[in-house]
Amino acid sequence: MKFGHFDDQNREYVITQPDTPLPWINYLGCQAYFGIISNTAGGYSFYRDARLRRITRYRYNNAPFDLGGRYLYLRDDPSGEFWSPSWQPTQHKLEQYSCRHGMGYTTIGSTYSGIEASTRYFVPLDENLEIWQLTVTNHRPQAAELSVFSSLEFCLWDAQDDSTNFQRNFSIGQVEIEDGVIYHKTEYRERRDHFAFFACSEKIAGYDTQRDVFLGPYRGWDNPVAVERGHLSNSVAHGWAPLGSHHVKLSLKPGESRQVIFVLGYQENPRDQKFDPPDSQIINKKAAKATIAKYRVAANADAAFEKLRAYWSELLGLCQVDTPDVHTNRMVNIWNAYQCMATFNMSRSASFYESGIGRGLGFRDSNQDLLGFVHMVPVRARERILDLASTQLPTGGAYHQYQPLTKRGNNDVGSGFNDDPHWLIIGVGAYLKETGDWSILDEPVPYDNAPGSETPLYEHLQRSFRYTLDRLGPHGLPLIGRADWNDCLNLNCFSDSPGQSFQTTTNKDGKVAESVFIAGLFVLAGREFAEIAKHRGLDTEASSYLAEVAKMEATIREHGWDGEWFIRAYDDFGRKVGSKENAEGKIFIETQGFCTLAGVGLEDGLAVRALESTRKLLATKHGIVLQQPAYSKYYIELGEISSYPPGYKENAGIFCHNNPWVIIGETRVDNGDAAHDYYSRINPSAREEISEIHRCEPYVYSQMIAGRDAPTHGEAKNSWLTGTAAWNYYAITQWILGIRTSYDGLLIAPVIPKSWRGFKATRKFRGVTYNIEVQRTGDCNCVALEVNGKPIKGNLVPLPPPGTAIVEVKARLG
Ligand code: GLC
Ligand code: GLC
Repeated sequence: MKFGHFDDQNREYVITQPDTPLPWINYLGCQAYFGIISNTAGGYSFYRDARLRRITRYRYNNAPFDLGGRYLYLRDDPSGEFWSPSWQPTQHKLEQYSCRHGMGYTTIGSTYSGIEASTRYFVPLDENLEIWQLTVTNHRPQAAELSVFSSLEFCLWDAQDDSTNFQRNFSIGQVEIEDGVIYHKTEYRERRDHFAFFACSEKIAGYDTQRDVFLGPYRGWDNPVAVERGHLSNSVAHGWAPLGSHHVKLSLKPGESRQVIFVLGYQENPRDQKFDPPDSQIINKKAAKATIAKYRVAANADAAFEKLRAYWSELLGLCQVDTPDVHTNRMVNIWNAYQCMATFNMSRSASFYESGIGRGLGFRDSNQDLLGFVHMVPVRARERILDLASTQLPTGGAYHQYQPLTKRGNNDVGSGFNDDPHWLIIGVGAYLKETGDWSILDEPVPYDNAPGSETPLYEHLQRSFRYTLDRLGPHGLPLIGRADWNDCLNLNCFSDSPGQSFQTTTNKDGKVAESVFIAGLFVLAGREFAEIAKHRGLDTEASSYLAEVAKMEATIREHGWDGEWFIRAYDDFGRKVGSKENAEGKIFIETQGFCTLAGVGLEDGLAVRALESTRKLLATKHGIVLQQPAYSKYYIELGEISSYPPGYKENAGIFCHNNPWVIIGETRVDNGDAAHDYYSRINPSAREEISEIHRCEPYVYSQMIAGRDAPTHGEAKNSWLTGTAAWNYYAITQWILGIRTSYDGLLIAPVIPKSWRGFKATRKFRGVTYNIEVQRTGDCNCVALEVNGKPIKGNLVPLPPPGTAIVEVKARLG
């Protein structure tokens, strides 16, 4: 069952039924001011940091799930009837409803009792504000006398404190109102230098800023007393809960349309210019007023919207494909790339499942996310890499997370996740291959942000690589530390007290438990690093890395192979994890995927066998589960993984992030049919028809789909902020379609399904546009290349001479 449809032409998903199984959301903003918006206008906004600069209030895990947001009310004044054009919160039966989630904007429109109302929500580029552009049309045969009420609830800035520290917060709320503009200035009188403003394009009939006055005692957002009554009270918030509401009256002739624009913005003032007059306590509104004046004008709002459209067209235009599969096209050309940008902006901080107060930017997460966005924002990717590397520790280890506002490592979570350092090599490798910007390796970068500790970035990579060699276990495999990629495989934790964090409680000295996953990662990162070293002319160093890689591969073969698949780890007792010897958790996806994608066992058939075992034991129609059999009880020696009920999350859920590893593994053994088949099983667009089962948005990946052991097999959870976005984008574009960046140029190495006759693609790479046409002439995936009409040996398109704008590439597969 579907709740809407894709409009690929406009790059939109159109939701036609408001009561979707879960809120289906979108992101507004792509630089500093951000918002989350659901299909019924729920959600909130913040400036840069979803915890420390929360602009509007939102309550997670509410009932209904999504309540609170950017709500408008329309009121038919003669009859007194009122409704919300976004369905929530009044939930009237609308005659027509549609929510169009597009690239950085959302338009929610509906018709009720002959009145059509459509609101376009977006954040203009280079501004710290959002626009709600409302158009109301009277389709009645007679004139309509209407009232429009806006509403939002201000957050008292620190979202964590806002939702816990009520003894203080009920007494600090403050606002100012001037010319109908509502200014939220809680704490501005003391240490803050920023405030929010909420303005309206029209002359207003009244305002409210005190929540209880607007809603009325014992009432909720579905029936505010002020809206019911038909006028606001001009309340001035003092303490309690400041909100913003404007009242605009509209008289519409039959067929007439009117626009009303609301502007919600964030403004910082220089510390010495906070007040105007300087010796008063009144906010200096100069800058804010200029901004408001601009966006009150519809033509300016429209122009800003067009600029935003152009921005996304350009970003997405960098890689466009035309394949026989509509779901592939739509994800690559639009939604998957868009989601990669969301992970760049948000990391794992703010979605409807991440509250925006919990986590900073993950070291491993952000490095992996680079794989999906580096071609769109190379300059910002460079900055991200340097920020990440600055939190690396002198040992080569890394803080597991850092805070985006301070860019410092997060001490609460600390370090000791022994896979972390290698992801920096993977991230830097992706950046170098995309941009060819070797200068980044010479950038001086500190350790733990300590001034004076700078070394060239290249040395950070050396320390990353060394980190593992300094921490090998009894079998010569890497020690796991607190966890590896799987945050929930906590082999040194041994936690027996409720409430302890599995990630930060460590009760063993960590000298025994080893990770075969990190071994696979080491192989991949080591090969990458050797190539980087070679490019720097360090041949001897490169060979020494390759020697270590070969040694690790041999160790994996000897101690990491279980007969039919790769073992997952050794626990603190030196016992195998993910082996036929185990009663539960006999086989794990991570090592099958990662070892094969890293190329372990390609020559001697181990890779093929591991992938066959994966298909036999882990693959379901909804995707590949993380391990089998699921853990039915708590294993103290395994940690959080066994804390989840079977079928969820790391305990045998389909943890979508690692499915593309198997997909890439399949391309490495030349199995394009299997690769694309797995790709399609978790492709959200391909799952649109089963939205009642999948439940999350059909246009973005979710972190998890419930595995076969769960009663809700096939149900997705935790949409949007997941490494799944980058890895799937990377798997489909670089490995299945095979348009792959390399240190020396663009490789063309498709491993596509046998039934595909070919495909076309345009890829902008290092400033040059490559028009690529792939044609299948036989079953094999061997490539015969023609570049600008001339046959070329091998499958690397040589870098064209400087000044070249376009390169034509034809590839025959067969
Ligand atoms: C989450 C974390 C990621 C981890 C994964 C598996 O996605 O953000 O760092 O690798 O879970 O545990
Ligand atoms: C990852 C896992 C999650 C775990 C968390 C701890 O996000 O997916 O299950 O609770 O890490 O930080």
